[in-house]
Amino acid sequence: MGKFDDLRKDFPMLERQVNNKPFIYLNSAATTLKPRQVVEAMDTYYYTYGGTINRGVDSVGYEATLAYEAVRTQVAEFIGAKDPNTIVFTRGTTTSINMIASSFGELIIEAGDEIVVCLSEHHANYIPWQQLAKRKGAKLILAPLNDFGGVTPEGLQSVLSAKTKIVGLHHISNVLGSHNDVKRLAELTHEVGAYFVVDGAQGIVHEAVDVTDMDCDFYAFSAHKMVGPTGVGVLYGKAELLAKMPPTEFGGEMNHIVDIYDTSFKDAPHKFEAGTMMIAEVIGMGAAISYIEAIGIQAIHDHVSALREYAVEQLKQVANIEIYNEHNHSSGIITYNHIGIHPHDAATVYDREGISMRSGHHCAQPLLTWLHQPATLRMSLYLYNNKADVDQWIVAAKQADSFLDALF
Ligand SMILES: Cc1ncc(COP(=O)(O)O)c(C=O)c1O
Repeated sequence: MGKFDDLRKDFPMLERQVNNKPFIYLNSAATTLKPRQVVEAMDTYYYTYGGTINRGVDSVGYEATLAYEAVRTQVAEFIGAKDPNTIVFTRGTTTSINMIASSFGELIIEAGDEIVVCLSEHHANYIPWQQLAKRKGAKLILAPLNDFGGVTPEGLQSVLSAKTKIVGLHHISNVLGSHNDVKRLAELTHEVGAYFVVDGAQGIVHEAVDVTDMDCDFYAFSAHKMVGPTGVGVLYGKAELLAKMPPTEFGGEMNHIVDIYDTSFKDAPHKFEAGTMMIAEVIGMGAAISYIEAIGIQAIHDHVSALREYAVEQLKQVANIEIYNEHNHSSGIITYNHIGIHPHDAATVYDREGISMRSGHHCAQPLLTWLHQPATLRMSLYLYNNKADVDQWIVAAKQADSFLDALF
């Protein structure tokens, strides 16, 4: 048994059945399965030192604080950030990007300014900028997409100007798996004096990230896409930018002095972490990073990419299939349709075979408009998938195709 087959035992959900069939999980771009190690780290917090953090003087609370803050240092090292105080814990990518738009964006955007995004952004990296532009009388500018659904340096350059203030782009798209050269795009953005925000929700999963080398201004991601718990993620921001940004939420433990008519706030990152935080989830995210690092991001990437190549070749043998991202190898995502059959109907056939997959618009409606499709199927592979999963998926794909024959 290979190394990756061996890892399957860490994921208890793979032992269950769905519709009386062995469960096959092909929806990791939505959220990944969680290994025992992550759940156990959270259990240990709740069972042995489950106090609150950064408050009071009790020993249990102190232990919890140390564990929570140790994850901040671990995340900083994981993404190549020099200073742990540039790591803000949030509820996930969506919250991180909204925080940038409503704090930093509110601060710097004025009427007539331009904010650049592209059509293949997830709604989480589209709507916050669209709404900020509306509020401020700024313009939302679309960087042109290349054939793969990504943005090339030349494409970005064609829309940059002295009016550009913020560029917000994906590292890897959640629908087409397009990969942007974010380092080069950040460089071009800085040449016109603008700030570069990376939606790293999928990028962090499939390659080693070094925010210092990339020189992005902000990088956002979620733990649940990388074997961590839901409800927790990260906003990385350059120290000098976080220092300028006002908090967007107010409450306990983010202040120095609360006077009757005014309040002074702590420094970043604590001024952004109001109220009782998701302590167990932060600790679970630390365990997830340790789990991934023990395997190695490059090894995971190679495993997923070889499996994806195999899956694409198999899918091409099935009749009446249209694949929208055949050549995008950076992630485990294959986005496709059975011609003439609605993806929700097809997904029902897959589900009957025990296969969990995504159908719909993938929270990327502008991109679906670009693809001229109301919806698609998306299968996505991760470290616990193997060839047997792909083979079973192909059996279901053939059934979905004959379901078509039966109907029409
Ligand atoms: C590229 C991308 N951006 C943003 C998000 C939003 O992440 P979350 O729902 O964890 O906030 C996702 C999740 O699907 C994503 O894939």
